[in-house]
Amino acid sequence: MAKLIDGKAYAEALRGRIAVAVASLKKNHNLTPGLAVVLVGEDPASKVYVANKAKQTVEVGMNSWEHKMPADTSEADLLAIVQKLNNDSSVHGILVQMPVPKHIDSAKVLNTIDPAKDVDGFHVVNVGRLSTGQDALTACTPVGCVMLAKATLGKLDGLNAVVIGRSNIVGKPVAQLLLAENCTVTIAHSKSKDLPGIVRQADLVIAAVGRPEMVKGDWIKPGACVIDVGINRIERDGKNKLVGDCDFASCEKVAGSITPVPGGVGPMTIACLLHNTVKAAAAMKGIKTPEM
Ligand code: GUN
Repeated sequence: MAKLIDGKAYAEALRGRIAVAVASLKKNHNLTPGLAVVLVGEDPASKVYVANKAKQTVEVGMNSWEHKMPADTSEADLLAIVQKLNNDSSVHGILVQMPVPKHIDSAKVLNTIDPAKDVDGFHVVNVGRLSTGQDALTACTPVGCVMLAKATLGKLDGLNAVVIGRSNIVGKPVAQLLLAENCTVTIAHSKSKDLPGIVRQADLVIAAVGRPEMVKGDWIKPGACVIDVGINRIERDGKNKLVGDCDFASCEKVAGSITPVPGGVGPMTIACLLHNTVKAAAAMKGIKTPEM
Protein backbone atom coordinates (compact mmCIF):
# COMPACT_ATOMS: atom_id res chain seq x y z
CA MET A 1 0.00 0.00 0.00
CA ALA A 2 1.22 3.48 -0.86
CA LYS A 3 2.48 5.89 1.78
CA LEU A 4 -0.06 8.71 2.26
CA ILE A 5 1.35 12.18 1.60
CA ASP A 6 -0.17 14.37 4.32
CA GLY A 7 -0.56 17.76 2.62
CA LYS A 8 -2.70 19.06 5.47
CA ALA A 9 0.11 18.52 7.99
CA TYR A 10 2.76 19.83 5.58
CA ALA A 11 0.71 23.00 4.92
CA GLU A 12 0.12 23.54 8.64
CA ALA A 13 3.86 23.35 9.33
CA LEU A 14 4.56 25.74 6.44
CA ARG A 15 2.00 28.23 7.80
CA GLY A 16 3.78 28.01 11.17
CA ARG A 17 7.08 28.98 9.52
CA ILE A 18 5.34 31.78 7.60
CA ALA A 19 3.92 33.17 10.86
CA VAL A 20 7.46 33.28 12.31
CA ALA A 21 8.70 35.09 9.17
CA VAL A 22 5.83 37.62 9.37
CA ALA A 23 6.61 38.31 13.04
CA SER A 24 10.27 38.91 12.19
CA LEU A 25 9.37 41.32 9.34
CA LYS A 26 7.15 43.29 11.74
CA LYS A 27 9.76 43.40 14.51
CA ASN A 28 12.87 44.06 12.44
CA HIS A 29 11.52 46.03 9.47
CA ASN A 30 8.19 47.48 10.63
CA LEU A 31 6.63 45.63 7.69
CA THR A 32 3.27 43.83 7.83
CA PRO A 33 2.66 41.93 4.58
CA GLY A 34 -0.86 42.46 3.20
CA LEU A 35 -2.99 40.46 0.77
CA ALA A 36 -6.03 41.84 -1.08
CA VAL A 37 -8.49 39.37 -2.61
CA VAL A 38 -11.10 40.43 -5.15
CA LEU A 39 -14.19 38.27 -5.71
CA VAL A 40 -16.66 39.07 -8.48
CA GLY A 41 -20.01 37.29 -8.29
CA GLU A 42 -21.49 34.58 -6.12
CA ASP A 43 -19.82 31.30 -7.19
CA PRO A 44 -20.25 29.13 -4.06
CA ALA A 45 -16.86 27.33 -4.33
CA SER A 46 -15.07 30.68 -4.88
CA LYS A 47 -16.78 32.16 -1.80
CA VAL A 48 -15.49 29.26 0.33
CA TYR A 49 -11.92 29.63 -1.04
CA VAL A 50 -11.92 33.40 -0.48
CA ALA A 51 -13.18 33.04 3.10
CA ASN A 52 -10.47 30.44 3.82
CA LYS A 53 -7.80 32.68 2.31
CA ALA A 54 -8.85 35.63 4.47
CA LYS A 55 -8.95 33.50 7.64
CA GLN A 56 -5.49 32.00 7.10
CA THR A 57 -3.97 35.35 6.07
CA VAL A 58 -5.02 36.85 9.42
CA GLU A 59 -3.92 33.71 11.33
CA VAL A 60 -0.30 34.11 10.16
CA GLY A 61 -0.34 37.79 11.22
CA MET A 62 -0.77 39.50 7.85
CA ASN A 63 -3.22 42.19 6.75
CA SER A 64 -6.17 40.95 4.71
CA TRP A 65 -8.64 42.85 2.55
CA GLU A 66 -11.63 41.40 0.71
CA HIS A 67 -13.33 43.26 -2.15
CA LYS A 68 -16.63 41.60 -3.00
CA MET A 69 -18.23 42.88 -6.19
CA PRO A 70 -21.57 41.94 -7.79
CA ALA A 71 -21.71 39.56 -10.77
CA ASP A 72 -22.72 42.40 -13.12
CA THR A 73 -19.61 44.49 -12.30
CA SER A 74 -18.18 45.97 -15.50
CA GLU A 75 -14.68 45.10 -16.68
CA ALA A 76 -13.74 48.79 -16.34
CA ASP A 77 -14.84 48.86 -12.68
CA LEU A 78 -12.87 45.71 -11.91
CA LEU A 79 -9.76 47.10 -13.65
CA ALA A 80 -10.16 50.31 -11.63
CA ILE A 81 -10.13 48.33 -8.34
CA VAL A 82 -7.01 46.46 -9.47
CA GLN A 83 -5.30 49.78 -10.32
CA LYS A 84 -6.24 51.18 -6.92
CA LEU A 85 -4.68 48.14 -5.21
CA ASN A 86 -1.58 48.45 -7.45
CA ASN A 87 -1.15 52.00 -6.15
CA ASP A 88 -1.75 51.16 -2.47
CA SER A 89 1.65 50.67 -0.78
CA SER A 90 0.15 48.70 2.14
CA VAL A 91 -1.00 45.99 -0.32
CA HIS A 92 1.79 43.56 -1.28
CA GLY A 93 -0.29 40.81 -2.88
CA ILE A 94 -3.34 41.03 -5.17
CA LEU A 95 -5.47 38.03 -6.12
CA VAL A 96 -8.53 38.20 -8.36
CA GLN A 97 -10.46 34.98 -7.77
CA MET A 98 -11.02 32.96 -10.96
CA PRO A 99 -13.31 32.35 -12.76
CA VAL A 100 -14.61 35.88 -13.35
CA PRO A 101 -18.03 36.35 -15.04
CA LYS A 102 -18.00 35.70 -18.81
CA HIS A 103 -18.37 39.35 -19.86
CA ILE A 104 -14.96 40.12 -18.30
CA ASP A 105 -11.68 39.34 -20.12
CA SER A 106 -9.72 37.39 -17.48
CA ALA A 107 -6.35 37.76 -19.28
CA LYS A 108 -6.78 41.54 -19.32
CA VAL A 109 -7.55 41.58 -15.59
CA LEU A 110 -4.61 39.32 -14.68
CA ASN A 111 -2.20 41.36 -16.83
CA THR A 112 -3.34 44.60 -15.15
CA ILE A 113 -2.09 43.38 -11.76
CA ASP A 114 1.36 44.80 -10.95
CA PRO A 115 3.68 41.79 -11.59
CA ALA A 116 5.44 42.59 -8.28
CA LYS A 117 2.11 42.02 -6.48
CA ASP A 118 0.98 39.08 -8.61
CA VAL A 119 0.95 36.44 -5.85
CA ASP A 120 -1.00 34.04 -8.11
CA GLY A 121 1.87 34.10 -10.64
CA PHE A 122 -0.58 34.38 -13.55
CA HIS A 123 0.72 37.64 -15.12
CA VAL A 124 2.56 37.01 -18.42
CA VAL A 125 5.68 38.61 -16.96
CA ASN A 126 5.81 36.07 -14.13
CA VAL A 127 4.95 33.18 -16.48
CA GLY A 128 7.78 34.33 -18.78
CA ARG A 129 10.22 34.68 -15.90
CA LEU A 130 9.40 31.16 -14.69
CA SER A 131 9.85 29.63 -18.13
CA THR A 132 13.21 31.39 -18.64
CA GLY A 133 14.57 30.41 -15.22
CA GLN A 134 14.38 33.90 -13.67
CA ASP A 135 13.17 34.62 -10.16
CA ALA A 136 9.37 34.84 -10.35
CA LEU A 137 6.22 34.84 -8.28
CA THR A 138 4.96 31.36 -9.21
CA ALA A 139 1.47 29.85 -9.26
CA CYS A 140 0.57 28.44 -5.84
CA THR A 141 -0.86 24.98 -6.57
CA PRO A 142 2.13 24.00 -8.77
CA VAL A 143 4.58 25.14 -6.08
CA GLY A 144 2.61 23.11 -3.52
CA CYS A 145 2.78 19.99 -5.74
CA VAL A 146 6.55 20.25 -6.11
CA MET A 147 7.03 20.88 -2.37
CA LEU A 148 5.10 17.68 -1.59
CA ALA A 149 6.98 15.67 -4.24
CA LYS A 150 10.34 16.85 -2.86
CA ALA A 151 9.28 16.23 0.74
CA THR A 152 8.40 12.65 -0.28
CA LEU A 153 11.13 11.75 -2.79
CA GLY A 154 13.99 14.10 -1.89
CA LYS A 155 15.78 15.15 -5.10
CA LEU A 156 13.74 14.90 -8.29
CA ASP A 157 16.77 14.91 -10.64
CA GLY A 158 16.39 12.65 -13.65
CA LEU A 159 12.91 11.37 -12.78
CA ASN A 160 10.32 10.81 -15.49
CA ALA A 161 7.50 13.17 -14.58
CA VAL A 162 4.17 12.99 -16.39
CA VAL A 163 1.82 15.94 -15.96
CA ILE A 164 -1.78 15.18 -16.99
CA GLY A 165 -3.46 18.49 -17.83
CA ARG A 166 -2.28 21.62 -19.63
CA SER A 167 -4.04 24.49 -17.84
CA ASN A 168 -2.38 27.84 -17.22
CA ILE A 169 -3.17 27.47 -13.49
CA VAL A 170 -1.57 24.04 -12.92
CA GLY A 171 -0.40 21.89 -15.87
CA LYS A 172 1.90 24.32 -17.69
CA PRO A 173 3.51 25.96 -14.62
CA VAL A 174 4.04 22.65 -12.76
CA ALA A 175 5.79 21.28 -15.88
CA GLN A 176 8.14 24.30 -15.83
CA LEU A 177 8.90 23.81 -12.13
CA LEU A 178 9.64 20.10 -12.67
CA LEU A 179 11.97 20.95 -15.58
CA ALA A 180 13.79 23.32 -13.23
CA GLU A 181 14.13 20.35 -10.82
CA ASN A 182 15.86 18.38 -13.64
CA CYS A 183 12.96 16.02 -14.33
CA THR A 184 12.26 14.67 -17.81
CA VAL A 185 8.80 16.15 -18.27
CA THR A 186 5.91 14.98 -20.43
CA ILE A 187 2.73 17.04 -20.59
CA ALA A 188 -0.19 14.78 -21.48
CA HIS A 189 -3.89 15.64 -21.52
CA SER A 190 -7.35 14.30 -22.16
CA LYS A 191 -6.70 14.07 -25.92
CA SER A 192 -3.30 12.33 -25.68
CA LYS A 193 -3.06 8.99 -27.50
CA ASP A 194 -2.48 6.03 -25.17
CA LEU A 195 -2.64 8.08 -21.98
CA PRO A 196 -2.35 4.94 -19.79
CA GLY A 197 0.85 3.95 -21.64
CA ILE A 198 2.35 7.42 -21.15
CA VAL A 199 1.46 7.52 -17.45
CA ARG A 200 2.97 4.03 -16.95
CA GLN A 201 6.42 5.51 -17.75
CA ALA A 202 6.20 7.99 -14.88
CA ASP A 203 8.18 7.94 -11.65
CA LEU A 204 6.15 11.01 -10.68
CA VAL A 205 2.55 11.61 -11.81
CA ILE A 206 0.87 15.00 -11.44
CA ALA A 207 -2.84 14.58 -12.20
CA ALA A 208 -4.47 17.92 -13.00
CA VAL A 209 -6.99 17.11 -15.70
CA GLY A 210 -10.23 17.86 -13.85
CA ARG A 211 -11.93 14.51 -14.54
CA PRO A 212 -13.12 12.53 -11.53
CA GLU A 213 -11.16 9.28 -10.89
CA MET A 214 -9.84 9.11 -14.47
CA VAL A 215 -6.38 7.73 -13.61
CA LYS A 216 -6.62 4.02 -12.70
CA GLY A 217 -4.28 1.86 -10.67
CA ASP A 218 -3.16 -0.15 -13.72
CA TRP A 219 -1.88 3.11 -15.30
CA ILE A 220 0.60 3.55 -12.43
CA LYS A 221 4.16 2.21 -12.46
CA PRO A 222 4.69 0.23 -9.23
CA GLY A 223 6.26 2.48 -6.58
CA ALA A 224 5.57 5.77 -8.41
CA CYS A 225 4.72 8.98 -6.53
CA VAL A 226 1.21 10.23 -7.38
CA ILE A 227 0.23 13.86 -6.74
CA ASP A 228 -3.51 14.34 -7.33
CA VAL A 229 -4.56 17.96 -7.92
CA GLY A 230 -8.18 17.16 -8.79
CA ILE A 231 -11.05 18.37 -6.61
CA ASN A 232 -14.24 16.97 -8.14
CA ARG A 233 -17.64 16.84 -6.48
CA ILE A 234 -19.58 13.68 -7.35
CA GLU A 235 -22.73 11.89 -6.21
CA ARG A 236 -22.10 8.35 -4.91
CA ASP A 237 -24.56 6.15 -3.02
CA GLY A 238 -26.84 9.18 -2.74
CA LYS A 239 -24.07 11.17 -1.04
CA ASN A 240 -22.08 14.21 -2.15
CA LYS A 241 -18.39 13.29 -2.23
CA LEU A 242 -15.04 14.97 -3.08
CA VAL A 243 -12.78 12.88 -5.29
CA GLY A 244 -9.54 13.54 -7.15
CA ASP A 245 -8.51 12.89 -10.75
CA CYS A 246 -7.10 9.53 -9.62
CA ASP A 247 -9.13 6.49 -8.64
CA PHE A 248 -7.65 6.42 -5.14
CA ALA A 249 -8.68 2.86 -4.22
CA SER A 250 -6.87 1.25 -7.17
CA CYS A 251 -3.94 3.71 -7.35
CA GLU A 252 -2.96 3.37 -3.68
CA LYS A 253 -2.44 -0.38 -4.21
CA VAL A 254 0.29 0.24 -6.82
CA ALA A 255 1.85 3.64 -6.06
CA GLY A 256 4.75 4.12 -3.65
CA SER A 257 3.18 7.32 -2.33
CA ILE A 258 -0.01 9.23 -3.05
CA THR A 259 -1.84 12.39 -1.96
CA PRO A 260 -5.39 11.92 -0.64
CA VAL A 261 -8.33 14.10 -1.73
CA PRO A 262 -9.16 16.03 0.38
CA GLY A 263 -6.08 16.67 2.54
CA GLY A 264 -3.36 16.42 -0.11
CA VAL A 265 -2.55 19.24 -2.54
CA GLY A 266 -5.60 21.39 -1.59
CA PRO A 267 -4.28 22.80 1.71
CA MET A 268 -0.91 23.60 0.10
CA THR A 269 -2.39 26.21 -2.28
CA ILE A 270 -3.28 28.81 0.35
CA ALA A 271 -0.07 28.16 2.30
CA CYS A 272 1.91 28.89 -0.91
CA LEU A 273 -0.18 32.02 -1.51
CA LEU A 274 0.81 33.33 1.93
CA HIS A 275 4.43 32.35 1.16
CA ASN A 276 4.29 34.40 -2.08
CA THR A 277 2.80 37.38 -0.24
CA VAL A 278 5.71 37.43 2.24
CA LYS A 279 8.14 37.12 -0.69
CA ALA A 280 6.45 40.01 -2.54
CA ALA A 281 6.40 42.22 0.57
CA ALA A 282 10.11 41.66 1.28
CA ALA A 283 11.04 42.32 -2.37
CA MET A 284 9.02 45.56 -2.40
CA LYS A 285 10.83 46.74 0.73
CA GLY A 286 14.18 45.74 -0.81
CA ILE A 287 15.03 43.21 1.91
CA LYS A 288 15.93 39.52 1.78
CA THR A 289 12.99 37.08 1.96
CA PRO A 290 13.08 35.43 5.40
CA GLU A 291 13.59 31.65 5.53
CA MET A 292 10.23 29.80 5.59
N1 GUN B 1 -9.48 29.64 -8.90
C1 GUN B 1 -9.07 28.35 -8.70
N2 GUN B 1 -7.78 28.31 -8.31
C2 GUN B 1 -7.36 29.59 -8.26
C3 GUN B 1 -6.12 30.19 -7.92
O1 GUN B 1 -5.12 29.54 -7.58
N3 GUN B 1 -6.09 31.55 -8.00
C4 GUN B 1 -7.16 32.29 -8.39
N4 GUN B 1 -7.02 33.62 -8.46
N5 GUN B 1 -8.33 31.77 -8.71
C5 GUN B 1 -8.42 30.42 -8.65
